[in-house]
Amino acid sequence: MLQTLFKTKITPALVIYESILKSNIERAASSITKDRGIKLRPHFKTSKILEVATLQKEYGAVGFTCATVEELQALCGRGFLDLFFANQPIGYSKIKKIIEIATQCDLKIALDSMEAAIPVSEAAIQAGIKIPYLIEIDTGLGRAGVVPSEAFQLAKNIKELPGLILNGIFGHEGHLYLTRDIEERKKKGREIGEMTVNAAEKIRKMGIECDTVSVGSTPGLISAPFVKGVTEARPGTYVFNDENQNYLGVSKPDSCAVQVVSRVISRPKSKVAIIDAGLKAMSSDRSLQNKGYGSIQGRNDKINFYTAFEEHGVLTGDGVEPLEVGDLVGIIPNHACGTVNMWSKALVVRNNRITAEWSITARH
Ligand SMILES: Cc1ncc(COP(=O)(O)O)c(C=O)c1O
Repeated sequence: MLQTLFKTKITPALVIYESILKSNIERAASSITKDRGIKLRPHFKTSKILEVATLQKEYGAVGFTCATVEELQALCGRGFLDLFFANQPIGYSKIKKIIEIATQCDLKIALDSMEAAIPVSEAAIQAGIKIPYLIEIDTGLGRAGVVPSEAFQLAKNIKELPGLILNGIFGHEGHLYLTRDIEERKKKGREIGEMTVNAAEKIRKMGIECDTVSVGSTPGLISAPFVKGVTEARPGTYVFNDENQNYLGVSKPDSCAVQVVSRVISRPKSKVAIIDAGLKAMSSDRSLQNKGYGSIQGRNDKINFYTAFEEHGVLTGDGVEPLEVGDLVGIIPNHACGTVNMWSKALVVRNNRITAEWSITARH
């Protein structure tokens, strides 16, 4: 099929298979929201594409999670108004933009310290608004966030700041990428959900309202959102899936909606093929199993994409032998979010034809 699709197309190219995309969106939406009352707030950092956000909204997303100001601006500018900035708003210029956006949409922000909270509160007062915030807790990833048992203390301190109002509590269980065993991951996901609910309860016991209890990750989707008391899920990668999700058993190659399509440009020796997709096409995200820069569709067991230069990829292994200069390969990225961010546009395949080009609008 690639030969027909790409007869007149330049490679490398980022390709989105729309029917897979839609079924990923539909599957997650129905498992999270249907009959369960859990809100779905997908992370926009994965696609950064407005057409994808539109589909997610059609299938029940209440709003979006963002990691950058560009993502917020892209969504807000196109009428997606329920937004959560799940990142610490630090620095004068970023705060200024956040306040600007908060005057145009229903924006919630993340906070994990008084140092972060005070300048935002002051800027909000100056703008005559109150900004809702969620306390970020570290549920085990070892990134930003307070220890869950300390969240109540931060809520108490921030209550004294008139420009801010508590909306809830959230964590990102990215450490679940390290647990491949599904039952074990389910158990850890449940514990993380419980940890988040307990931290919210402790805040409520002080008489402070804490409506949102939010968890977020694709590998955690099997259990964390379903803990009683969790109100919201924020998966991102689920929309495309990738080789790392395949490795974890979260997805399969045929549920990966995004690929980089590349041509063999040289066969310098036996069992080696050089392709025109390198680091600038794939991103430098290594796979969870430290196995190179992506998996060659249909031939992953026999071809290793182990080395990449800026515009060159090096494929090795027995599976390379049938490849000739000019042949096309589809590559499932290790990490969809990092790969998509390398591109300014994606070609969209619908009914076995390339029918549209979508802009990666919110790239840096
Ligand atoms: C704060 C936050 N929420 C949600 C997500 C979504 O996680 P995933 O990419 O596993 O779906 C991320 C991913 O980086 C994140 O940082």
